[in-house]
Amino acid sequence: MIWEVSTVVVGVDGSEGGRRAAEHAVEVARKWGSTLLLVTVVRTPEGWWGIGGAPPTPEALSTALIEGQRQILDEIESDLDLAGIQYETIEELGDPANRLVAVCEERGADLLVIGRRGAGLVERVILGSVADRLCHLSPCPVLVVP
Ligand SMILES: Nc1ncnc2c1ncn2[C@@H]1O[C@H](COP(=O)(O)OP(=O)(O)OP(=O)(O)O)[C@@H](O)[C@H]1O
Ligand SMILES: [Mg+2]
Repeated sequence: MIWEVSTVVVGVDGSEGGRRAAEHAVEVARKWGSTLLLVTVVRTPEGWWGIGGAPPTPEALSTALIEGQRQILDEIESDLDLAGIQYETIEELGDPANRLVAVCEERGADLLVIGRRGAGLVERVILGSVADRLCHLSPCPVLVVP
């Protein structure tokens, strides 16, 4: 078999698009008996504070952001029907597309599931920038959920 879905990675960002992606990923994992990795990436803010004032320490900033993003995982975990599915929740720090690619590589993912759009205010675009970059960079097949 050239393709067997042992490990599925899904990116969740607290958006409706991310939730639909996760629902699809769950069904794929159920059918294949795959391990499901629910991944959220805390985007590290660079250059937020601009001129004047000392920037918050990276540690303080990261702790607040990490806790905020942790809720996204808790929420999706309680909303999804994960009965009988072997899954992990993973929180990463950095650039969302780069970190998702890294997780797929490190874990030998067979499928990456993402939403066409995410949490951005993007009535203007059809495909979000994270989704766009992942379609270019993913080491495994990508399922883009509209
Ligand atoms: N921080 C993140 N962590 C995990 N997955 C993410 C993250 N951001 C986006 N994704 C995944 O990518 C999909 C598309 O989101 P994307 O960010 O590309 O769209 P957007 O937020 O509408 O646009 P943009 O971010 O370019 O303003 C989401 O549905 C989700 O599956
Ligand atoms: Mg986004």
